[in-house]
Amino acid sequence: MSAERKVRLGVIGSGKGSNFVAIAQACREGNLSAEVAVVLSDVAEAGILKHAAGFGLAARFIDPGKFRTKLDESAEAAYVAALREARVDLVVLAGFMRILKGTFLAAFPGRVINIHPALLPSFPGLASWKQALDHGVKMTGCTVHWVDQGIDTGRIIAQQAVPIVEGDTAETVHERIQQVERVLYPQTIGELIRKGAVKASAA
Ligand code: GRF
Repeated sequence: MSAERKVRLGVIGSGKGSNFVAIAQACREGNLSAEVAVVLSDVAEAGILKHAAGFGLAARFIDPGKFRTKLDESAEAAYVAALREARVDLVVLAGFMRILKGTFLAAFPGRVINIHPALLPSFPGLASWKQALDHGVKMTGCTVHWVDQGIDTGRIIAQQAVPIVEGDTAETVHERIQQVERVLYPQTIGELIRKGAVKASAA
């Protein structure tokens, strides 16, 4: 019988990487029974790659190709290959600013999750904290969801509400949401693993 191994996470992001840091820290401190196997980014200078290096984790920039909002075909194949090579069990999108399409999702069926800074299905897409503020909603939040081919349309896994208060700006709302994200994302990954919705494949 093969020794039981931890769920291997492949984290993909385009930005500063604060969600990644929360996940990597939870793994390191033993609060999350998983390990980050690889970190990928479509932005060579992204903070997420620098943070990954700081944790001593494998991290790579992979050129996304010629499109602005998605990966081109060869880039998609390169992302899939890197995740497979790292034997990733769960793909964790953390601020990845591109839409993933058929081939990528077919390579990891039911194994790609994302965190979105709003209470979906309200305010999908970009700058959702600003959309919420501009609409005058009093309660927004963040959502962890499975990724499908739509924009922030996959089935919801977990949500947490965050209030919008008098005097808030887009920046203060975003920061308040991000503080909650950094707790909710590692917690939700842990719950998926505990429930057996995500499993480590045989070593
Ligand atoms: C988060 O607010 C997340 O909800 C959104 O992108 C942001 C990423 O932030 N999808 P960070 O790079 O993890 O700091």
